[in-house]
Amino acid sequence: MEKPNLPRKILFFVIFAGIVIFLLILIPFVEDLLSANIVGFKEAVNEYISRVFGKTEGMMAETFVALLVQFFRILKVILWMSLIVSTIRFLRTLIFSTALRSSAYEFSTLLQNVLSIIIYIVTFFIIFNSQYPNVDLAALFTTSTILGVIIGLAMQDTLGNLFAGLAMQADQPFQIGDVISIPTKGTGVIENISWRGVKIRTFQNKFLIISNSVLGKEAIEVAPRDNLNARLVFFNTLYSNSPAKTIHTVREVVRQIENVSQKIRPIVRVRNLGDNGIDWEVKYWIEDYLKHNDTDALVRQRIWYALKREKIDFAYPTRTIHIETKAAENGFVETENEVFERLSYVPIFAPLSDEETQELAAGSRVRVFAPDEPIVWQGQPGKSMFVVHKGSVKVQIKKESQTKTLNTLREGDFFGEMGLLTGEPRTATVIAEEETQVLEIDNFCLKPILEDNPELVESFSRIVEERRNLLAEKQSERDTMKKTDNAGVFHSIKKFFGLDS
Ligand code: CMP
Repeated sequence: MEKPNLPRKILFFVIFAGIVIFLLILIPFVEDLLSANIVGFKEAVNEYISRVFGKTEGMMAETFVALLVQFFRILKVILWMSLIVSTIRFLRTLIFSTALRSSAYEFSTLLQNVLSIIIYIVTFFIIFNSQYPNVDLAALFTTSTILGVIIGLAMQDTLGNLFAGLAMQADQPFQIGDVISIPTKGTGVIENISWRGVKIRTFQNKFLIISNSVLGKEAIEVAPRDNLNARLVFFNTLYSNSPAKTIHTVREVVRQIENVSQKIRPIVRVRNLGDNGIDWEVKYWIEDYLKHNDTDALVRQRIWYALKREKIDFAYPTRTIHIETKAAENGFVETENEVFERLSYVPIFAPLSDEETQELAAGSRVRVFAPDEPIVWQGQPGKSMFVVHKGSVKVQIKKESQTKTLNTLREGDFFGEMGLLTGEPRTATVIAEEETQVLEIDNFCLKPILEDNPELVESFSRIVEERRNLLAEKQSERDTMKKTDNAGVFHSIKKFFGLDS
């Protein structure tokens, strides 16, 4: 059921309080009326009773009047208590859910409840004493052993929970929004802490409700909401692969993953020199711990792709190096012929002879990227260019805090030429849209071909100029990138490759 909003709550409270106050004002009048007419009233009651039940001693009327007086007293206690309870509940809603909601300060529900209960008890004592001044309520509670035993036994669990809850409140081991793991019970996000227990929403979107007294006895693992919590993911590689290369590859790929904190560099370290290969662990810190399962999965996926790209092999007890090399060949490594085919259909390489294209194909490498994985980053130094072989990529720039997509490039398109040809940092980030294979061409491979084909420098500079001008349009005015002309780009390419002489 939907909860009523604030104006409706105010209206309900005003109507309810109005009715209660009206009744409290009305009751003394009714009582006065009764005591003023009490003689006549008793006679009328006696007469009515004798008519209905036959002759009586007149005791019934006395009793009836006495009952009526008690009834009004009890009614007053009830009305006063309901007025107090509703006022306190209303004030709680007003103060804690409205006024303090925006501030970072979070007043615990447990303390709110305890405070309210104390106020209820004190006001009950005051109201009760005002109606029954001769009854010593405190003495009744403190001296009656049987009552004490009954209440004590009945409230054993409740009080146990309350005191465990208060102890936890003083300690503050966790707060709403933290993720906690309780052995044998489960893991989830704390949604509510009350005087009875803690409500946790598990990662299966179910609720786990644990009483404070049970929780007090458990060893709990807490991942605080406003903390950079670390995660560990394990993998292994063959002994033939260089550890330094593995560390570099995995660290660079993990730090680019969404939700992995940029503040602390991931740590990749050898856990064990195992029977089948090197056992590794990668430790990284995450921004939003609620997404740790997804982030762990993405880390494993990206490690797989990165190791494949760098030709680092996983170690499996049941597989030999020979089997794994074959799997890699079937998976991603294209034959030189296919690479040659692809490059010969790239329009910019059309002026090249077959031998030159063959030379380019021999010098290029096939690299595979996962969906949404960056291939080059804005600002990174660029030493190679890429041709999209299979799949597609999007070109994005960051302007202030916004990311803009400039273009989508498909099979046969190329990118990364700007950094390669001018020696400047990458002007944009290029991200794989799906699982994408690109051919990477290094500058030492391109240089002899540019030397022999001046028209290739010309076509490249035209495209670089077009892309630069588009980038300049998209950047804000304060950015330093200026519109360039073809001749400027042409000369800077020639200068960078030392082709001027
Ligand atoms: P580079 O600067 O080396 O790295 C990012 C690459 O994105 C850049 O080279 C270009 O190849 C590519 N790029 C930049 N702007 C565009 C654009 N408007 N359209 C297509 N590709 C672009």
